[in-house]
Amino acid sequence: MTAVTKERINRQFKLKTRPTGRVNDSNFDFVEEPVPPLQKDQALVRNLYLSLDPTNRVWMTDVPQYMPPVGIGEVMRGGGVGQVIESKNSKYKVGDFVSGLIGWQDYLLITGNEKMPPQVLPKGLPIPLTAMLGPCGTTGLTAYFGLLEIGQPKTGETVVVSAAAGAVGSIVGQIAKIKGCRVVGIAGTDEKCKWLTSELGFDAAVNYKNADWKEQLKAACPNGIDISFENVGGEIMNYIISKLNLKARIVLCGLISGYNDGDVTKSQISLTPILIKRARIEGFIILDYAARFKEGAMQLGQWVFQKKIKYKETIVEGLEKAPEALNQLFDGDNTGKLMIKISDPVN
Ligand SMILES: NC(=O)c1ccc[n+]([C@@H]2O[C@H](COP(=O)([O-])OP(=O)(O)OC[C@H]3O[C@@H](n4cnc5c(N)ncnc54)[C@H](OP(=O)(O)O)[C@@H]3O)[C@@H](O)[C@H]2O)c1
Repeated sequence: MTAVTKERINRQFKLKTRPTGRVNDSNFDFVEEPVPPLQKDQALVRNLYLSLDPTNRVWMTDVPQYMPPVGIGEVMRGGGVGQVIESKNSKYKVGDFVSGLIGWQDYLLITGNEKMPPQVLPKGLPIPLTAMLGPCGTTGLTAYFGLLEIGQPKTGETVVVSAAAGAVGSIVGQIAKIKGCRVVGIAGTDEKCKWLTSELGFDAAVNYKNADWKEQLKAACPNGIDISFENVGGEIMNYIISKLNLKARIVLCGLISGYNDGDVTKSQISLTPILIKRARIEGFIILDYAARFKEGAMQLGQWVFQKKIKYKETIVEGLEKAPEALNQLFDGDNTGKLMIKISDPVN
């Protein structure tokens, strides 16, 4: 008798139309395709956790950006972690955990020709796998290199972080505390603000949905602002810029307030305070630091292990929920890292 191998079906989100405004299911074809038998140099990954990032929304839009936009008909690009379940490639062994661009799908077929191949994670990590999407993955590395390399914080300086209760912002604030700074977060609910001050050690947090948030922020920064870690743009960024100190640094990490409507005018800023305060504004994309990821990840892993960095996760169950769940980032429904759980690892 011949053994019958169960055919694997790969559910995939393929971009159908470019969203205007919020993302919804109609922007995708949710297809089911059989996984083909592996060829030489290929490996098959079962996707476990899919990272949902504000940049996913930008990738869906046909505008100049740091990577090509996702093409119509292509599987939606997305980062995440998975586990190798079959392999004809010596770099990937069955059972290995990998992180990288896994896509909005159940399985990733590694061809061996990827420009950015998934990386095998070290065995026996002393931290949960999901931390590789949060503080110990690209999220944490963005906070680490953005703050330390561009912000260059010094003891006693005041650091203001927008979207502070989100994945990147919550790590930025804690690293700034480790470096001896006064840290003020801006977030969209009182509950998030409480988390920042009572659990993460921020010195103050301001809910930007309160009518008097500008007065609150001013009061929370009695010595002005030396570093702005900017995740939001728009009115929040403009107000922060008006409170900068001499030689302040603006770490331009993201401008989420404009991603859904593509309104570039939202983040137009007045250059006058930057001139008067001889401030520096510098954008960065975390991929710029790829050669130093190992160094950053080691330090972040140590801080997480020592509980000097704490983190939260917002986990949505089920690949099929990915388009709707992405909107949580724009509605402020996530605290910490937002991700989709696709499946469980095999022991
Ligand atoms: N440069 C890079 O390489 C790089 C890498 C990763 C991320 N980023 C950027 O970093 C930023 C944060 O990303 P993340 O992954 O950590 O997401 P996140 O902060 O976990 O989630 C986004 C948060 O932004 C806040 N927000 C959304 N729309 C807003 C608006 N109109 N005004 C004010 N706040 C708003 C929401 O929190 P509230 O409840 O507080 O509103 C939401 O929870 C994004 O701008 C992203 O593009 C950049």
